[in-house]
Amino acid sequence: MTREWTKSNIRDLSGKVAIVTGANSGIGYETCLALAENYATVVLAVRNVNKGFEAVDKIKREFPNADVHVLQLDLNDLASIREFSQQFKQKFRSLSMLINNAGIMVPPYRVTKDGFESQFGVNYLGHFALTGLLLDRIIATPDSRVISLGSLAAHKQKPEFKEFTGTKTKYKKFKSYGQSKLACMFFAKELQYRFRSRNIDSKSIACHPGIAQTYLFGKGSRKLTRRLTRASLKLIGQSAEAGAYPILYAATEPSVRGGEYIGPDGKKGIKGYPTELNILDELFDENVSSNLWLLSESLTGVKYLF
Ligand SMILES: NC(=O)c1ccc[n+]([C@@H]2O[C@H](COP(=O)([O-])OP(=O)(O)OC[C@H]3O[C@@H](n4cnc5c(N)ncnc54)[C@H](OP(=O)(O)O)[C@@H]3O)[C@@H](O)[C@H]2O)c1
Repeated sequence: MTREWTKSNIRDLSGKVAIVTGANSGIGYETCLALAENYATVVLAVRNVNKGFEAVDKIKREFPNADVHVLQLDLNDLASIREFSQQFKQKFRSLSMLINNAGIMVPPYRVTKDGFESQFGVNYLGHFALTGLLLDRIIATPDSRVISLGSLAAHKQKPEFKEFTGTKTKYKKFKSYGQSKLACMFFAKELQYRFRSRNIDSKSIACHPGIAQTYLFGKGSRKLTRRLTRASLKLIGQSAEAGAYPILYAATEPSVRGGEYIGPDGKKGIKGYPTELNILDELFDENVSSNLWLLSESLTGVKYLF
């Protein structure tokens, strides 16, 4: 691994098409900015297109020739995910990087349009469906990569996906967030296993940003709590740009093999430069993972090609 890896290590990405979900703010926005700076074609997959166009304007102010596009995607709604996939396929023939970044954290109990508990639905099931619907493009593109976002919040969790009902009476918002992120991490490993066992050239990698200063924290809480949370983040965490480095590393470094879990190398994984971590190998359980896959296919109605 390259020491002290930053976005200045990114190679020329001309000709590569990337999708970044949750691209209008935080880590997703920083990811788009760095990919566009290095000549990738970037599709900002956003639930609110106005926010998407604002992000495009910001990117274009820094890089006027950036090849950036906005497409609407609401991970809260399987119909929107299908619509997004169709529109993307009509416009683009290849997909080099699918960056499943969008996320919500510890909201009050609610369900997605299709009735899933919202964190499990948006953070995990939505991205499971999106990846499955785009799989033909991914597989057809040489050295393509799918990036899934984990979290420190998942590192102390045990997988309870089968028991995970997400019903209001059992809802524990922090636990649900951790389970949703653990599911994304298991998905990344399982997808890599399936690519490799079928001799498919694509790669699947999980990563986490440590603790990064973004809008994720304090959303929905009172103004004072939100301000205190964000002030303490400034003290302990890292910038949104540095939070994007594990994603950018996973998506662009030529030495990445697939199956890795990338996160910051600093104390407790809170900040630092991207490095390969062992924790996912320790948490991973093959049986749980393949059961989660079957459950996800049945819940979303998206059947993978393998
Ligand atoms: N920041 C951290 O320290 C940290 C730590 C661990 C993991 N993460 C992960 O990093 C990822 C990015 O988060 P962030 O910190 O950059 O937070 P953020 O600034 O709040 O960004 C989250 C993005 O997800 C989008 N999103 C939310 N619900 C969506 C939906 N239903 N459909 C489509 N997009 C949706 C948001 O769009 P709107 O603007 O429309 O809401 C926003 O663009 C998340 O997966 C998060 O779990 C972050």
